[in-house]
Amino acid sequence: MSDELHQKIQEAIAEPKNLGEMQNADAVGTMGSADCGDMLRMWIKFREEGGKKVIDKASFQTFGCETAIAVASLATQLIQGKTPEEALAMDGAALSAPLGPLPPMKIHCAQLVEGALRQALGGAPAAQPAKSAPMAPTLVDGFGAAAPAKKTIVFKK
Ligand code: FES
Repeated sequence: MSDELHQKIQEAIAEPKNLGEMQNADAVGTMGSADCGDMLRMWIKFREEGGKKVIDKASFQTFGCETAIAVASLATQLIQGKTPEEALAMDGAALSAPLGPLPPMKIHCAQLVEGALRQALGGAPAAQPAKSAPMAPTLVDGFGAAAPAKKTIVFKK
């Protein structure tokens, strides 16, 4: 990872924006990474603007790495004011663009954010790399099961 990218990530996670569960959200999406077992949840609230439904605000919580936190923080800002269709057109690279190109081993971190956004907006699922070998159940596997009535994720600094 370049020094510049590392610096940008550190700046983004020093004061992550839109961190935390959103009460009264209109949409919620949760995605787990088959690569690392991390997960991320995104909440979205819409508003009406000029006769169109646009994203008023978004927030997130994650059991994820610094890159995922930085990308999620940026993504929740980038999608504000966009229609769901415009937000769905943004892939992990677009959502992490302010950081610059991510190294190959960190691309899945941005895809985690993209996946949660897609799930919240009802878009097609983001591409997930196939698991090459059977693995022990992870936190990710639990997300395929029916969601309990309420789940709280506590972010640890
Ligand atoms: Fe898991 Fe980055 S290493 S999201």
